[in-house]
Amino acid sequence: MNWQTATLPAALYDYAVQNRALSRLGARALWNYDIGHLRDSIAAQDPTALTLDIPCGGGLAIGDNPRHIAADLSRTMLKRARRKTTTLLQADIYALPFGPSTFDACLTYNGLHCLEDPALAIAELTRVLRPGGTLRGTTLVRGTSRDPLYSLMQRLGVFGPSGTTTDLETWLISAGLTDIDLTPSGAVTGFTARK
Ligand SMILES: C[S@@+](CC[C@H](N)C(=O)[O-])C[C@H]1O[C@@H](n2cnc3c(N)ncnc32)[C@H](O)[C@@H]1O
Repeated sequence: MNWQTATLPAALYDYAVQNRALSRLGARALWNYDIGHLRDSIAAQDPTALTLDIPCGGGLAIGDNPRHIAADLSRTMLKRARRKTTTLLQADIYALPFGPSTFDACLTYNGLHCLEDPALAIAELTRVLRPGGTLRGTTLVRGTSRDPLYSLMQRLGVFGPSGTTTDLETWLISAGLTDIDLTPSGAVTGFTARK
């Protein structure tokens, strides 16, 4: 899906994911996912860390941290995220406009499965992460009971190829990350890793 032009689907997605009841039901029904894992991961952020959150979407992971930079490719999403912060940036996850080792933390929630090359995106996030910094995120994965729905979404052009949880681990290791922790729940895997 072209998130730049598909403004209505983008806004509908964001409304649903930010509504607690709707997202809990939707995540369970569609992806057999306990979205409590996502909320726990967001809550576990260090509120003082210099943080890059990409794709931020409509601002799901934005809290009170004044050093939280929220970035996305889509102007529609950035407009929605503006309700939560003014520290916003239009950026492409494959080509981040930051020098190496800039951030204490990078967040990438529900974005890797939308990309054609998730491994390349992880490598770019790792580049801007400082040594000892943390990468945290979630992504839909293959190899679960929801594969038929995933394949349909891919055929419709909404999702990229993604991979299994094992592929995700390989991408994280290949980027040079360590202390990898994976939390599979239904068709979504959460992860943290350290540079
Ligand atoms: C499913 S949404 C997830 C957003 C948010 N993290 C959340 O969990 O609600 C996927 C987001 O990826 C963004 N996106 C897609 N390709 C991108 C790219 N190359 N660089 C940055 N953002 C991208 C879209 O604009 C969209 O906001």
